Amino acid sequence: MNTIAKIVYGAFAAMALLWSVNASAGAVEGFKFMEKQACAACHNITGEVSAKTVGLWRKGPALYYAGDKYNQNWIESWLQKPTRIRPSGEFYLDHTQTGVKWNTLRHDSLKPHVKLAALDARNVALALTELRAKDALVNVEHYNADMTVPSGLGDMMFDKVNGCLACHSIEPNYGGLSGPELYTAAARLKPEYMLSYIRNPQAWNHKSWMPRRELSEEDMQKTVNYIISLASDKTKALMKSDVDQSAAKDYRVYCMQCHGISGTGSGINSRDMEVPPRNHSDSKYLRTRTDAELFKAIKEGGSSVSKSALMPPWGRVLSDGEIKGLVKHIRKLCNCKFDSSKSKQ
Ligand code: HEC
Ligand code: HEC
Ligand code: HEC
Repeated sequence: MNTIAKIVYGAFAAMALLWSVNASAGAVEGFKFMEKQACAACHNITGEVSAKTVGLWRKGPALYYAGDKYNQNWIESWLQKPTRIRPSGEFYLDHTQTGVKWNTLRHDSLKPHVKLAALDARNVALALTELRAKDALVNVEHYNADMTVPSGLGDMMFDKVNGCLACHSIEPNYGGLSGPELYTAAARLKPEYMLSYIRNPQAWNHKSWMPRRELSEEDMQKTVNYIISLASDKTKALMKSDVDQSAAKDYRVYCMQCHGISGTGSGINSRDMEVPPRNHSDSKYLRTRTDAELFKAIKEGGSSVSKSALMPPWGRVLSDGEIKGLVKHIRKLCNCKFDSSKSKQ
């Protein structure tokens, strides 16, 4: 369902955007914000560059395929509170010096990343998610969450058998420094991206200094599940809220036509509707409804809960799980829970 936002970007000229009809208002704001902030001074947002010109001059990771790589939710949260992902910066030699026993990092040259306010981060995350220049690579991957390894064996594969630990850290301050840390990869990266990157790093980045090692399909799946298992509880919580992201998307596609962009009931269809769509930010009303009632209204339509039939039934379009996600999403919009002490209206 992803429509790719087409971005026309003159190399040094102003950014001109042609977005698909599907790009949300937020994404459009996000692109504008990135242009204003000159994020492209360090990031390639434009698209593929030839193997010849992609030198080691780049100052930040490529973002033109961000939608294929990152979890949207992670982008939003990281931009507000950036942590260091590449311990030695985008290109390690820029931040390395000779030392007594071995080369060491020059921490003084590693600058903190620009930090964004919540709304800007949200819009940028929406915008970056539209950039999917490498769909073809992730679409052929089939992640299998069941192909796990016991952690001891996983450590062994990652370190001794395949030598990944040489360049990647698996916990803060443990492991190699020339590659991105992998203990937050579970929240950061889509599993299909990880599979594809491990399969062929140079397909993602011509000049990636990660070697290409032939692993069996099974070992690749196990390695990705091992990387996911490195996540701390905090990181796992971030992954879980990705479920909320899909509810937000469903809400955008199915509900905003009537309930409106901000959920207040003023969608484009609302003008001539006899009964106005419910304002989902109205906590006073929504406190009087149980989650089960909201679920039923969404699944079976307004008339199933003695409300207007203008509220359509969604049970044949959305799964129960998706509808549960929407109930949670509405609870976020009203910032309220069912309160039995409030009498029903
Ligand atoms: C001065 C250069 C510079 C500018 C300007 C800059 N970035 Fe970055 N950005 C970086 C570097 C370097 C990293 C890698 C950080 C790390 O690995 O710890 C990064 C990482 C990121 C990441 C995470 C990607 C990843 O895999 O690490 C995102 C998302 C991002 N930047 C977005 C933005 C946005 C949006 C802007 C504009 C508001 C911006 N950046 C401006 C240098 C820059
Ligand atoms: C010689 C160093 C090196 C070795 C060995 C290595 N990697 Fe990497 N790896 C890298 C670098 C560098 C990158 C990021 C390159 C870039 O950003 O373009 C990377 C990226 C990745 C990524 C994507 C992370 C991200 O944030 O984009 C994954 C997943 C990964 N490696 C897994 C592995 C696994 C699994 C192994 C062992 C089979 C391995 N790597 C071995 C250097 C290495
Ligand atoms: C065609 C317009 C339309 C669409 C599309 C629509 N709704 Fe509604 N919705 C309404 C109307 C009208 C009401 C008010 C019904 C009433 O108060 O009698 C309503 C009421 C509701 C209510 C409140 C029920 C109650 O207990 O008062 C919920 C919850 C709700 N909608 C959720 C959704 C969700 C979730 C979606 C998207 C999957 C959605 N609606 C899509 C028109 C729509």
